[in-house]
Amino acid sequence: MGRITTYRDLGCLVTGASSGIGADIARLLAREGARLVLTARREDRLRELADECTELGAIAAWPIVADLDEPGAPEHVATMAENHLGHVDVLINNAGFAVPGLFASTDLERTLSMIRVNVMASVELAHRLLPGMVRRKTGGILNVASMASFQAAPYQSAYAGTKAFLLNWSDGLHQEYKHTGVAITALCPGVTDTEFFDAAGYPKAAGILKWRAECLPVAELGVRALARGRMEAVPGVLNKVLLFIQRLMPRTLVADVSRRLMGGRPTPVRRPR
Ligand SMILES: NC(=O)c1ccc[n+]([C@@H]2O[C@H](COP(=O)([O-])OP(=O)(O)OC[C@H]3O[C@@H](n4cnc5c(N)ncnc54)[C@H](OP(=O)(O)O)[C@@H]3O)[C@@H](O)[C@H]2O)c1
Repeated sequence: MGRITTYRDLGCLVTGASSGIGADIARLLAREGARLVLTARREDRLRELADECTELGAIAAWPIVADLDEPGAPEHVATMAENHLGHVDVLINNAGFAVPGLFASTDLERTLSMIRVNVMASVELAHRLLPGMVRRKTGGILNVASMASFQAAPYQSAYAGTKAFLLNWSDGLHQEYKHTGVAITALCPGVTDTEFFDAAGYPKAAGILKWRAECLPVAELGVRALARGRMEAVPGVLNKVLLFIQRLMPRTLVADVSRRLMGGRPTPVRRPR
């Protein structure tokens, strides 16, 4: 099974590093003395974080501004990361967003963009960077999936579809590569306190938002689970209990409960760039 004994001096590429879980993962890797490439669209955030990471202990931290929705962007990011790091030991596939709402009322282009960022960019980065890890018999990939990976999620159905893909794909890769020394882990956060909900435009009063978990422990679990070579990591006792219970329930019932929890009709507040 792939294990990472230390992140010290490892070359790590973190997508979606400009806020939330990705930014906290970058800080944790920095504290362990990794070399970092941080990517997202917001340049000011990336530059500030790169400076902070260097202060925290990263050997170096390079920001790469890229919109993973654009054609050629994942290839560009992979190439730039290898140029800076020599090779990429650890890939954190974290960039992602949701398009909530009644499916047919959502913006089609935005939904397709979500599939390109959440799914296609993650697949392309892994496909480009995994062979090097396998050759070197070390390193790993952390795919940030979701609790929404495990069941239908009405009013964010396509988003849950992208996360179901990430979980199943990641679990499959874990099994394919577990004897190569490369760790492949899916992190499945529940509702977490980041910019995610504002970016997507979930209504502030939405019931599920009351249970937001702190971001840092989620990031810590991801970094630790990857180092230990775990296949999946679910943060929080409540999420683990919910998962256990829902596995005993019919899928139809789980989907119906999920619809009641989601409720409301979201309106985006942060426009896509
Ligand atoms: N928060 C939750 O409750 C929750 C629960 C389960 C799973 N997740 C997953 O956790 C991951 C991180 O989300 P978060 O909660 O930390 O939310 P967040 O604070 O909104 O972070 C999302 C990150 O993705 C980046 N991103 C979005 N679109 C992008 C694009 N087109 N190209 C490049 N980067 C892009 C954003 O950077 P820019 O805007 O600067 O590009 C940002 O750094 C996502 O995959 C999300 O699906 C979150």
